[in-house]
Amino acid sequence: MQSNTFLVTGAHGFIGAWVVKRLLAEGAQVVIFDRSSDPYRLRMIMDEDELARPVFIEGDIVSENSLSPVIAGYNVTHIIHLAGLQVPVCRADPRLGALVNVVGTINVFEAALKHRPQVRSVAYASSAAVFGRFDEDRPVREDEAVNPTNHYGAFKRCNEDNARIYHLEHGLPSIGLRPLTVYGAGRDFGVTSDPTKAMKASVVGRPFHIRFGGKTDFLYAADAADAFIRAAVLETDGAHVFNLHGDTAAIADIVAEIERVRPEAKGSLTWDETPLPIPPELDATALHTFLGRTQQTPIADGVRETIERFEALQREGRLSTADLDV
Ligand SMILES: NC(=O)c1ccc[n+]([C@@H]2O[C@H](COP(=O)([O-])OP(=O)(O)OC[C@H]3O[C@@H](n4cnc5c(N)ncnc54)[C@H](O)[C@@H]3O)[C@@H](O)[C@H]2O)c1
Repeated sequence: MQSNTFLVTGAHGFIGAWVVKRLLAEGAQVVIFDRSSDPYRLRMIMDEDELARPVFIEGDIVSENSLSPVIAGYNVTHIIHLAGLQVPVCRADPRLGALVNVVGTINVFEAALKHRPQVRSVAYASSAAVFGRFDEDRPVREDEAVNPTNHYGAFKRCNEDNARIYHLEHGLPSIGLRPLTVYGAGRDFGVTSDPTKAMKASVVGRPFHIRFGGKTDFLYAADAADAFIRAAVLETDGAHVFNLHGDTAAIADIVAEIERVRPEAKGSLTWDETPLPIPPELDATALHTFLGRTQQTPIADGVRETIERFEALQREGRLSTADLDV
């Protein structure tokens, strides 16, 4: 890992923070590229020594040629592309959503192509939102039909097609990963952030209502980071897309897990009965065949670790609760 330099787009975001932490732990060089200059999510999970190590470049993936000088200047060997806008922003402003999520991703592929073979491949975040509604009660595989029900899912689907075409026409290898509900410290935006917000609410003694119900595919942030990094370093050919799978859990069971760690929260965490319009169980057999077994933190451990992190931040007077108000 020491000889690898990773460009992580969107690394001031939630999953990005966990990816950066893990890359630093493995001794890699890290270049953060983000439109936001605020590393608050990294500060939630890293100490000052760790925070001082990555290079930070403030920039917009929508700007043509913003990435190429960074790749050249820092001898980037691997790209993990996480920058993107979430469902609420894509719904409110589809044009902006398409610019960032689709054109921005094209810019990442163009930059990777320009710097081959120095850049080996691109690992990028797709989403389980590509699937849309799925009424059968069974795990869904990545080779099954997709039918997104929102612009966000459609943009992610479009990125998967573009990745395939970059490989067909230019031989650029890539791996896209489809997470569903990722949780952990730093998750603070979008409907699927609600279980994490409920954990935070339990720590500060506030009631919280989770805006969805039923079951969801629930993945700990450290496990998502592990999968993205494995995907990035794999020497592969092709444009692959894989589901990520954590635990398929009912929201009621996630709340019960929170209450086990914080019994005083009993009765203050509620949820809607309406499930997300995304299949709740993603089959990750293909991913495990391809990448080997990825890290799989049991829900009980992931929920406890997340709550303990929030408790520690609260003791230090650094726990923001602004996200609980929206
Ligand atoms: N968190 C989940 O549960 C989940 C599930 C499925 C897919 N994903 C995908 O994984 C990726 C990371 O998700 P996240 O939860 O960390 O999101 P996040 O919103 O926390 O982080 C996204 C980051 O991208 C940056 N960004 C946005 N527009 C940018 C631009 N134009 N140029 C540069 N940077 C820009 C933001 O500043 C932010 O730091 C996203 O592509 C998301 O769609 C996340």
